[in-house]
Amino acid sequence: MNTSAVTQLFEPLSFLHGPTMQNRFMLAPLTNQQSEHDGFASRHDQDWMRQVGEGGYGLVQTCATTVEASGIAFARQLGIHRDEHLAGLGEMAASIRRGGGLSAVQLHHAGHRARPELGGIPAPASNSTLPGVRALTTEEVERIRDSFIAAARRAELAGFDGVALHGAFGWILSEFMSPILNDRTDKYGGSLENRARLTIEIIEGIRHACSPRFQIGWRLSVERYGLRLEELRDITADILDRELIDYLDLALWDSAQVVQAGAYAGRKMLSVFTKIPRKGVRVGAAGKIMSARRAAQLLEEGCDFVLIGRAGILRPDFPLQVKADPCYDSPRLPVTAQFLRASGLSERFINHMRGWQNFLVPGSL
Ligand SMILES: Cc1cc2nc3c(=O)[nH]c(=O)nc-3n(C[C@H](O)[C@H](O)[C@H](O)COP(=O)(O)O)c2cc1C
Repeated sequence: MNTSAVTQLFEPLSFLHGPTMQNRFMLAPLTNQQSEHDGFASRHDQDWMRQVGEGGYGLVQTCATTVEASGIAFARQLGIHRDEHLAGLGEMAASIRRGGGLSAVQLHHAGHRARPELGGIPAPASNSTLPGVRALTTEEVERIRDSFIAAARRAELAGFDGVALHGAFGWILSEFMSPILNDRTDKYGGSLENRARLTIEIIEGIRHACSPRFQIGWRLSVERYGLRLEELRDITADILDRELIDYLDLALWDSAQVVQAGAYAGRKMLSVFTKIPRKGVRVGAAGKIMSARRAAQLLEEGCDFVLIGRAGILRPDFPLQVKADPCYDSPRLPVTAQFLRASGLSERFINHMRGWQNFLVPGSL
């Protein structure tokens, strides 16, 4: 890897709408369970946003943020479902802007995975997903669609440059995309076009409700929940061809993963998506990008930008580290709680990280 490849990570990137990213680093959405009751941003949320805001990212995404109180998946999850959240969200957006980065709220609804013990109301696409829980009615699906759009309006009012739709990991948008979890017979089920309708109506609704400078990202994952890669590829090709979004974020757990079965078996997962004509839409990926070298490789493999997850928790200023050292590599995992504390993470965030395999030294205080 020559250092000129790393230099390319610091070239700006324009979007179909709104301002230009100053470089190719995006902070991935990172749930950290440090908000207050009913989704209000806490002092810890503000500290974290200040930290990553100063970290040199071209764009910072918030953690998954609830568009409805009943769509909650995590204790102490950040919310954007009430106008009263605007003040705290505004402070977060301002911190990111001060550091020179663009900002996006990740919009989230847990769908069938909403947690009743946290006030969530499980909202499955199908009658068969959860015993005794009926599928959402068409009107309820439309209400959730409108909640995503209202949340995007709030994000814009709060000063964010855009939103990123959480279409990954079996949450509501990927649930509706799945032929296994969605056996509906209304306009939101059946054909691929119908299963993608909720996502597309939300994108189009946000485009209509927000200013022409507002940016829309869409996060997609490709595994589990009955998702079919061939279908996801086709719907992505349609969304890119119609230039409905500003950026696609491929949520791979390993950006080097190879497709195991089906029409694309043996190919790199990333290439299935980077080979799609993308017109003006930008494409990025997440998944074990822990070094300057790996980040630069992803640009060579066809990404326009990279998403930094765990490496950004280890060093909230990952892009600045790469800028200072083109051979930068993340600290080795697992790390101690003290290491994270010293870098400024709250106890709530550190406790959240205890749930992640091989991140913290077991029993580390
Ligand atoms: C602590 C933690 C919290 C996460 N929270 C979210 C989230 O809120 N929304 C989301 O889409 N992905 C979430 N992810 C997935 C990351 O955004 C990212 O896609 C994944 O960690 C792979 O990137 P990495 O290998 O650089 O960590 C989370 C991952 C971690 C480690």
